[in-house]
Amino acid sequence: MVFKDNREFIEALEKAGELVTIEQEVDWDLEAGAIVRKVCEEKAPSPLMNKIKDYPGHRYLGAPLTSHRKLALAMGLDPDSSIPEIAAEYLKRTNRSPVEPVLIEKEQAPCKENIIIGPEADLFSLPGPMVHDGDGGRYLCTWHFVVTKDPDNGDVNWGMYRQMVYDHKTMTGPLLPFSDGGKVFHGKYKPRGEAMPFATVIGPDPLSAVAASAPSPIPETKFTGMLMEQPVELVKCETVDLEVPAHAEIVIEGEILPDVSLEEGPFGEYTGYRTSPRDLRTVYRVKAITYRNDPITTISNMGVPTDEGQLLRSFTLGLEMDKLLRNQGIPITGVYMLPESTHHLVVVGVKAIYTNIATQIAQAVFGSKLGPWFHMVLVVDDKTDIYNVDEIIHALCTRCHPINGIHVYQGVGTPLYPFLSAAERKKSVGPKVLFDCTFPLDWDPFSEVPSLVSFKNVYPKEIQDKVLNNWEKYGFKPR
Ligand SMILES: Cc1cc2nc3c(=O)[nH]c(=O)nc-3n(C[C@H](O)[C@H](O)[C@H](O)COP(=O)(O)O)c2cc1C
Repeated sequence: MVFKDNREFIEALEKAGELVTIEQEVDWDLEAGAIVRKVCEEKAPSPLMNKIKDYPGHRYLGAPLTSHRKLALAMGLDPDSSIPEIAAEYLKRTNRSPVEPVLIEKEQAPCKENIIIGPEADLFSLPGPMVHDGDGGRYLCTWHFVVTKDPDNGDVNWGMYRQMVYDHKTMTGPLLPFSDGGKVFHGKYKPRGEAMPFATVIGPDPLSAVAASAPSPIPETKFTGMLMEQPVELVKCETVDLEVPAHAEIVIEGEILPDVSLEEGPFGEYTGYRTSPRDLRTVYRVKAITYRNDPITTISNMGVPTDEGQLLRSFTLGLEMDKLLRNQGIPITGVYMLPESTHHLVVVGVKAIYTNIATQIAQAVFGSKLGPWFHMVLVVDDKTDIYNVDEIIHALCTRCHPINGIHVYQGVGTPLYPFLSAAERKKSVGPKVLFDCTFPLDWDPFSEVPSLVSFKNVYPKEIQDKVLNNWEKYGFKPR
């Protein structure tokens, strides 16, 4: 099952018991944000808010992808699929050949049901929510993506870069220089003094959003097709030379200005804190707005776990690192990033067949393009279940030597790490740490390596099977 738009996905969420429809009026000024925040913290169903104060005809969908159940649904899987099952499906689909998008006619594209160009295209005509108390303004774009194009080779990029409404025609936001969109803007358009055309897509289908927030090197138009297992349908923009998903709810077109910056923030961030102060950031000038009838603005409310940025970025970052390490021929058994770590902790399972293999892993992942987004790597042996938090904590606390097993590195960070000083954040410095939770290879396996006392380690297979097969007969709940 592939959802070509968010509306079909909303139906699937409802069928799976993952949607709550709110018919009473909700205020865009903090109330909607507070509902979404509570949903994140309670791991509750996604709220569809059908009536927004001051904005008749507009709707909100909050927290669309805040759990692995919702992610499984988005991928057309059984919502009860386990995390390793969803991960295996992601790897299967994204290890195939890229799937080219198709261009459809404007008349067939729902996002063109309403077209407003020029002076009438007013950002305050859209219900940008005041997401958190203390935010620097109304964040219209929290679950969306920005489409841009490289001026030299025409490569298209979709990236999720937050945008705050500054005035009727202007949005501002951080376009970090190590993001793909940021590299093209800061490295090409800005030095040439040229404006960069952009299109912001609000309320995309769920897999386009997954692709836009994923750190894959494959262009997102093709990567979405791989995730969907069919081409994504695009349509041309009205005022800029870009294409956008035809079934999106709202599209904002315009230009990113090369010679001016305006204040943005602060904003509640994915780390669960508000770390970056109000500062001068990238400026988006609006030329046109197109939207579906009764448009649904998507809201992500970043804060303490679990929001969709934490969940999806942990999921996709982990799996892209899995590909990277396997491509280097390192004998890993898997990679998992805990969403609760706000994608700061990478857990890697490995068959430790040579000395310093954990160091090699840490250097590979910290030194990769993905490195700035995390600062902790924890390496465990191939018998540890990387998805089991109990086993990970146990490995950390019993197998990591405080002097020999902890290694500190200097790397690239983001301006958002809460543990950095304000001065360090400004420079995006990135202190990194490896926790090597493998026992040294030169220890004798019988006399020196302590043996693990666990159900799966100390009982013969036939006893384990007997106990598991009789589990419910003994009177326990099904596992
Ligand atoms: C909800 C959300 C908001 C984000 N906001 C920003 C942002 O404001 N600036 C930024 O550079 N990256 C931001 N990111 C991270 C990028 O989306 C992420 O790095 C993504 O891979 C960008 O695509 P790119 O690799 O094509 O640049 C955000 C991610 C999420 C999930």
